[in-house]
Amino acid sequence: MASTNPAHPHWSSRLLFVLAATGSAVGLGNVWKFPYITGENGGGAFVLVYLFCIVLIGVPILMAEVLIGRRGGSSPIRSARRLVDQLGAKRGWRIVGWMGVISSIIVLSFYSVVTGWALIYIWYALSGRFTEAVSGDAEPGAALEGMFSGLLADPAMLLGLHTLAMAIAILIIGRGVREGLERAVRVLMPGLFLILLILVAYAAFTTGRFGEGLDFMFRADFSALSWNAVLIALGHAFFSLSIGLGAMMAYGSYLPQRVSIARSALLIAALDTLVALLSGLAIFPLVFAYDLIPSQGPGLIFITLPIAFGQMPGGAVIGALFFVFLSLGALTSGISLLEPSVEHLTEQKGLTRWKAAGLVGGFIWLLGIASALSFSSWSGIKLLDRNLFDLFDYLSSNYLLPLGGLLTALFVGWVMPRADSLDELRMKDGIAYRSWRFVLRYVSPWLVAGVFLYGLI
Ligand code: PFF
Repeated sequence: MASTNPAHPHWSSRLLFVLAATGSAVGLGNVWKFPYITGENGGGAFVLVYLFCIVLIGVPILMAEVLIGRRGGSSPIRSARRLVDQLGAKRGWRIVGWMGVISSIIVLSFYSVVTGWALIYIWYALSGRFTEAVSGDAEPGAALEGMFSGLLADPAMLLGLHTLAMAIAILIIGRGVREGLERAVRVLMPGLFLILLILVAYAAFTTGRFGEGLDFMFRADFSALSWNAVLIALGHAFFSLSIGLGAMMAYGSYLPQRVSIARSALLIAALDTLVALLSGLAIFPLVFAYDLIPSQGPGLIFITLPIAFGQMPGGAVIGALFFVFLSLGALTSGISLLEPSVEHLTEQKGLTRWKAAGLVGGFIWLLGIASALSFSSWSGIKLLDRNLFDLFDYLSSNYLLPLGGLLTALFVGWVMPRADSLDELRMKDGIAYRSWRFVLRYVSPWLVAGVFLYGLI
């Protein structure tokens, strides 16, 4: 009962789907968040737990999302509705699609603001501002912290950057799947990998501290691992693989029928993890070589690392490359967050891609103003003790993503008959398929419910 909609475009090959989906997965989560949460949670043991979460929960749910997308053959909302109707399931399950679209809108609104930080830091690096900051009178840490907080306190600049990031996403998505998305990832993804390799090579050959970086990332000290860290690892596995948000459903809907979902999902997860680990290996040797602290928190990339860039020979170029790398990752993720709602408006309401991208992009831009201003003019607005940026980030990582993932696992594991998932995955009823279904039915939901409840507590 494979569903093929002739009017619906398809990726030209499996490689392009994998590139686009990896583009979605690889982003700020890998380069910004993974290294700093690894740093904060003790290194090696945390990395092990994270890998475990990726394999045990991430990959199965990623497969389930892509499966819903391809079988439904449309936007997350329409795909979920179609499958629910076909299976005669309770209408409430339609929420699987709606949640994804709503969450992707919220996440993109603040993700775009951080993308803006990455973009302006390219310029800061090139124009020698890091070197200036570390050679001034002030202590380097304080100087770079001042630079970062100065940026956050500048509403006009943040708004301009947020506008730029959204405009780029709209321009790519508006052109459509083949002309926009495929073309963009064809250029951006190889660029991203190339820069990452240069950065790792730089860390390996010039710092003399690569061994320490390796040691920090891979030596497991389980005494440093808390339950909290386990839950952080699980939540991050969701964020990093872009699951629970409809993006992978949207991308899955363009997947040609013959492509294996399981193999693609494994490849995407492997590439995403590789980029996260390599980012760590590009960053930590620099941190150690310049006597900085790895557990610096969210400032690791925007405050700690520029201290190293400001001091090292060729730091302007290496620093700029680093922030180009970060920006590419962020942009290829941002476009995947815009796709679910644009796909919906074009297919459900018959809008052109340009109109849909402009409309949704404009709305997200408006919503993002709240995040952009939350560090300055609107810093007084607080909910749950957080400014609006932190609130959106907190709500999505702790509630929306895990909830989306949980519903997806339950829907595909429990509501969809095995014959349907077997057919869509093009798998034999062997050990691989059975393990996948078992995990989806009995393991992922409990673990995800754990993260969810933990977030509540
Ligand atoms: N996976 C992206 C990252 O690691 O930065 C973030 C993300 C993109 C999450 C797209 C969800 C999504 F749908």
